[in-house]
Amino acid sequence: MDWQAWHDEYDRPDSRLARRLRVVQDRIRLALESCSPGPVKVISLCSGQGHDLLDVLVDHSRRDDVRARLVELDPRNTAVARSAAAARLDRVEVVTGDAALADHYRGMVPADIVLTCGIFGNITDEDIERTIGFCPRLCATGGTVIWTRHRGAPDRVPLICDWFEECGFEREWVSDPQAGFGVGVHRFTGRPQPLAMGERMFRFIGDATATPCS
Ligand SMILES: C[S@@+](CC[C@H](N)C(=O)[O-])C[C@H]1O[C@@H](n2cnc3c(N)ncnc32)[C@H](O)[C@@H]1O
Repeated sequence: MDWQAWHDEYDRPDSRLARRLRVVQDRIRLALESCSPGPVKVISLCSGQGHDLLDVLVDHSRRDDVRARLVELDPRNTAVARSAAAARLDRVEVVTGDAALADHYRGMVPADIVLTCGIFGNITDEDIERTIGFCPRLCATGGTVIWTRHRGAPDRVPLICDWFEECGFEREWVSDPQAGFGVGVHRFTGRPQPLAMGERMFRFIGDATATPCS
């Protein structure tokens, strides 16, 4: 998979991926609005070119409260995100690196908003569960995880919801099964646990059979 070219679908407004992006952006807007007054921390794992968060932040009323860290492996994508952020968002940091490594989130966890978009269709079921198991260490009490997963067989969205809910998260919203993609929002009601540095959450394997909405 060419992960730079993968983003081209976002330029076709009727594509499934572009529709999914608009849904994720709406959910980010709502999550920002629900944050208490004061500083807001956002982390994005496998952030790609950062369209979901950056496009929302530029004109959001909470933009000056937000400190964000985007972690993405492909330097072509981080270059795009960095240049978008540099233009107007000076509290957004873009890191080129392996988003599965806990060390990249030092100083940014527990975060108020955690984005895991485009990951769960590209890792094993075991690693989806493992990554969700890390979310109580990534997310602040009352914080939100916004995640995606395609709805192709096997439809893992119900299982993903179960795994979040076993880890102290409440389901806030899940997209309609007929939408053509899966987007979920879970809010953390537990107490954040410490994130040990040096730990790995997942191994990104990609899925050659997946739709773009993985
Ligand atoms: C399906 S895309 C999703 C991009 C973005 N989150 C979005 O939804 O628009 C997956 C992204 O993960 C990146 N990626 C793959 N393995 C990674 C890793 N180990 N650490 C960080 N990023 C990775 C790819 O380069 C690609 O940009």
